[in-house]
Amino acid sequence: MSGVTLKKVRKDYGSVVAIPSLDLEIENGEFCVFVGPSGCGKSTLLRTIAGLEDLTEGQIVIGDQDVSDRHPGQRGVAMVFQNYALYPHMSVRQNMAYALRLAGEPKAEIKKKVDRAAEILGLEAYLDRKPAELSGGQRQRVAIGRAIVRNPKVFLFDEPLSNLDAELRTRMRLELSELHQALGTTMIYVTHDQVEAMTLADKIVVLRAGRIEQVGRPLELYDDPVNKFVAGFLGSPSMNFLPARWADGRLVLEDLEGATLSMAAKAPESGKAIVGIRPEHLEIGPEGAPLKLRSVEQLGGVTYGYAILPSGQEFCVDLKGRRDIRAGDTVTLVIPETHALVFDAETENRIRPSK
Ligand SMILES: Nc1ncnc2c1ncn2[C@@H]1O[C@H](COP(=O)(O)OP(=O)(O)OP(=O)(O)O)[C@@H](O)[C@H]1O
Ligand SMILES: [Mg+2]
Repeated sequence: MSGVTLKKVRKDYGSVVAIPSLDLEIENGEFCVFVGPSGCGKSTLLRTIAGLEDLTEGQIVIGDQDVSDRHPGQRGVAMVFQNYALYPHMSVRQNMAYALRLAGEPKAEIKKKVDRAAEILGLEAYLDRKPAELSGGQRQRVAIGRAIVRNPKVFLFDEPLSNLDAELRTRMRLELSELHQALGTTMIYVTHDQVEAMTLADKIVVLRAGRIEQVGRPLELYDDPVNKFVAGFLGSPSMNFLPARWADGRLVLEDLEGATLSMAAKAPESGKAIVGIRPEHLEIGPEGAPLKLRSVEQLGGVTYGYAILPSGQEFCVDLKGRRDIRAGDTVTLVIPETHALVFDAETENRIRPSK
């Protein structure tokens, strides 16, 4: 088992700078998730760790070994891809055994390892089938099995669940989490799905345009984002953002009929801010800012109300399961000040209350 350290990693594709310069420490045994929008460099970063892409600059250390110049097969990593990449003409057993056979391992040893992986993944009954005779989830398990038999120091996953339907994705997510607990091996997992990031990760790395926006435990990032990008990326439905201006030490929310929040912080020069508040932190009270709901979503356990604010901004409120509120109703919103986050309107960085 090993941790992974990235030092000043840079990756260019010709004139395209995919990753300008990135430092990151992943602890031994950690489940680390790279998350971010399409094109932010998640796969590039994973592929440079795997050795499938050459580094332009920098260093990659796995355990105590600098592997920057090593061939993928000599890095002690195993990668699982989104499209599984199984050999269609081989059985499940042959697919899982392939890398070990290439490495010239003794037959008995290969059998032992494949049987163990099949047992961990519940694939014992399918070992003689071809990939075409399996469901999507079973194929994904074979792809993971192929990685397990190699007993890697680090597992690398690139969106392994995105080809599965929603229900299966949820089940496989739980299985991956259990697999990580059972094996205790370092795992690096790429996804653009913030729910996968929140539920699987010990550590989330939020990427944008090849740079790290924030690193931390899921709830750390959820509760204490450093900027509007991270705040808006994690959470579903996402955080609401309201334009605000400073007046006499208070923040005025024009969109909510001039409701104000106290904010003991230094205002930026522009005097403009953005207030972020999550749907679940809003309350409906007897008194507050009126909000006319355009639509109401009843999901059974939860109920969400949606509105469009005067500024054109979409707004969502968790109605805490109240079923008597309908589209067209006006509710009175109470904004608990302790849950409102404030961002500089220009830099979009967090403005924290001064102590
Ligand atoms: N072989 C390549 N040649 C040139 N540019 C590339 C190459 N591979 C990736 N890029 C560019 O590098 C950037 C990062 O791509 P990458 O595939 O890492 O994104 P990603 O975060 O994995 O996105 P997605 O969520 O869509 O998979 C993108 O701007 C992409 O266009
Ligand atoms: Mg990708």
